[in-house]
Amino acid sequence: MKKEKVLINSFRQIALDTIEMVVENAYISQTAKPGQFLHVSVEGHMLRRPISIADINKEKNTITILFKVVGSGTAKLATLTPGMSLDVLGPNGNGFQIDDQQKSTILLIGGGIGVPPLYYLGKTLAEKNIEIISILGFQTKDYVFYEEKFSNLGRNYVVTDDGSYGEKGFVTDVVKMAGDFDSYYSCGPLPMLKAITTKLKGKPGMISLEERMGCGVGACMACVIPTKKSGGYKKICSDGPVFHAEEVSL
Ligand code: FES
Repeated sequence: MKKEKVLINSFRQIALDTIEMVVENAYISQTAKPGQFLHVSVEGHMLRRPISIADINKEKNTITILFKVVGSGTAKLATLTPGMSLDVLGPNGNGFQIDDQQKSTILLIGGGIGVPPLYYLGKTLAEKNIEIISILGFQTKDYVFYEEKFSNLGRNYVVTDDGSYGEKGFVTDVVKMAGDFDSYYSCGPLPMLKAITTKLKGKPGMISLEERMGCGVGACMACVIPTKKSGGYKKICSDGPVFHAEEVSL
């Protein structure tokens, strides 16, 4: 992880309050792994914002990041335009472990702004000829994004809380429809991850935790989460954000 300047190549709104930004940086694009994040400095704000990596194009040295406009920091980010640059730390954290995935079927389960990191993961796994099934959950139709991209990776289900698009309900309601799979990877809000890890207890899985962070580099303890086995704590920013499903207490 290094402090880097990234150049904004493109910027577009892809769903309600949801911005996709493509930035250019040789070091990050060549070294980042699925599940890692950028810690983005926002003008006028003391704390950086953690934003997960949604895609990488190594030929073009570009990184795609997505964020939801939820407060003054992300609102400020949403005013940026192509040609401007951002000060980031990255790539940060430990990403998804994928090396031990042989020929198998993987279920990806994403909720809201937890969907983006699963796209780069899914793309990387699909390149290894691993079969991908995905379930993407959103609040309503207006928030849905990346449906087509995930459909290009394999079978894909979209679910909305109010049924305004796709299936009605929560991602856990759709797991049965997905059929058989060997292991799963999930990212989304804590209640969703709790429900998923409970429902899929005993299945090998990895989860990525979305957490508001302080330093983002393991120095401030603002992001700790209790572990199940050792009775200790892990730092989401530096030990995670990805953990084995049975490793942490949600
Ligand atoms: Fe500071 Fe994780 S945000 S230790």
